[in-house]
Amino acid sequence: MEGIASLISYSRSDNTAVYIQISNRFINLIQQGIIRPGTRLPGSRSLSLQIGVNRLTVSKAYDELVIQGWIESKGSRGMFVCGVIPDIQANPFSEGGKGIRSMPGYPWNPVSYLTTPRISSGYEMFIDEGLPDIRLLPTIEIARAYRAALRSGSYKGTLSYGEVYGSRSLRTILTEFIRSTRGIPLSESDCLITRGSTMGIYLAANTVLQPGDIVVTGSLSYPTADLIFRQSGAKIMRVPIDEGGIQITALEQLCMDQSVRMVYVTPHHHYPTTATMPAERRVQLLQLAREYRFCILEDDYDYDFQYDSNPVMPLASADTSGLVIYVGSFSKSVAPALRVGFVVGPGRLIEAMGKHRRIIDRQGDHLLESVFTRLFRDGEMQRHLRKAQKVYHQRRDHFCHRLQHDFPDLIYFQKPAGGMAVWANFKEVVPLRAIVKQAAAEGFYLPDPENYSSHLNATRLGFASQTESEMDISLARLKELIRRFVP
Ligand SMILES: Cc1ncc(COP(=O)(O)O)c(C=O)c1O
Repeated sequence: MEGIASLISYSRSDNTAVYIQISNRFINLIQQGIIRPGTRLPGSRSLSLQIGVNRLTVSKAYDELVIQGWIESKGSRGMFVCGVIPDIQANPFSEGGKGIRSMPGYPWNPVSYLTTPRISSGYEMFIDEGLPDIRLLPTIEIARAYRAALRSGSYKGTLSYGEVYGSRSLRTILTEFIRSTRGIPLSESDCLITRGSTMGIYLAANTVLQPGDIVVTGSLSYPTADLIFRQSGAKIMRVPIDEGGIQITALEQLCMDQSVRMVYVTPHHHYPTTATMPAERRVQLLQLAREYRFCILEDDYDYDFQYDSNPVMPLASADTSGLVIYVGSFSKSVAPALRVGFVVGPGRLIEAMGKHRRIIDRQGDHLLESVFTRLFRDGEMQRHLRKAQKVYHQRRDHFCHRLQHDFPDLIYFQKPAGGMAVWANFKEVVPLRAIVKQAAAEGFYLPDPENYSSHLNATRLGFASQTESEMDISLARLKELIRRFVP
């Protein structure tokens, strides 16, 4: 075929290697039928001269096409487009871009109570439910750690099948980190690295619970944990909450009547109300666990951010009976998309959790874990945590100040001792649900109160992810919206 060279284009400023651009262009031309099966391609010397690249570049492009099965070498006769070319075009069976259709009448039976979370990205403006500011991340150091992890020669281990409990080096570091920051006396075999707290809760529930077991949570609780408990066949029972989290006397009453298997708590900022469980109540809860032999699932999702006092230690730090399963995560302290978390408990239980994990996730992301290891070893992680704690502390103070001064007759709240959000109770005159809908229609994301309760006129308002001037703008917008509904 004459003139093939005139059809081949590439750009030296493109990030893609030139030989890949050339081979992709050939694939395109073959797929479109412009270069037909059986066509003889120009020799590498001739093509390289015509299109102005090194001969080696054309040879590499041809090698790539041979490997992918588009062209074949016929010895001294040259390179030819294959008679049967790989069919990687999409089947044209979906109409109008509607995607894959399921077979008519085929009985998919999704579990009806499962839901997918709403996300704040994609909105022009937002107040989220309490997320970190990923702009604070040491991205250059993270990129450097990725590069080092891939270059070091140890990448062969990192990129292969590894331990289901997580990479050894990160487990060693995390064991020390958890011991020194949380006061939990653990050894490496008491810890499993997860892809975030959600996986920790899932593994704990599926390892400990049998269908019909009773799990107790606060009257308001973390909805994803509810879904996990339901999915494991447990029966959820609720106890009232107050400004100290779940009420222990109510829990004790329940334990007298029922055989409770697990109690799920977020003592370090109750979800969603952000209340911190006082030390006295923690001791009572541990005593009850020993007396009634239930296990405590302690979800400590935002432990790293405490602003007002010395850190309140987790329940797990005072557990001498091995009844607490402790779940933590870097989703809030680093970034939600960098999925690293951990679950801590008695070694035998961790081993059983490893067996469960294996059937849905052969192992974690060992490359990412290697990056975390490097960030800890270089002190970057510790620097980042200190910086974020300081920034979020200032943002909490500014946000609460604004709420107090700009919404005195509309919102009431307790200043949270830590975490990333305020639990905002709106006065009854404020139609919060309608406002959230209207805001979304105008490109302004606000957390839906339905996420937390079907009856309360309250929602979480996150302060960590926005600078002070950004939150001034979004709070002014919220105020303006409320004024439209409550003149
Ligand atoms: C109470 C609570 N537990 C667990 C999680 C899940 O976190 P992760 O991203 O670590 O799975 C969240 C996330 O917001 C949370 O609020």
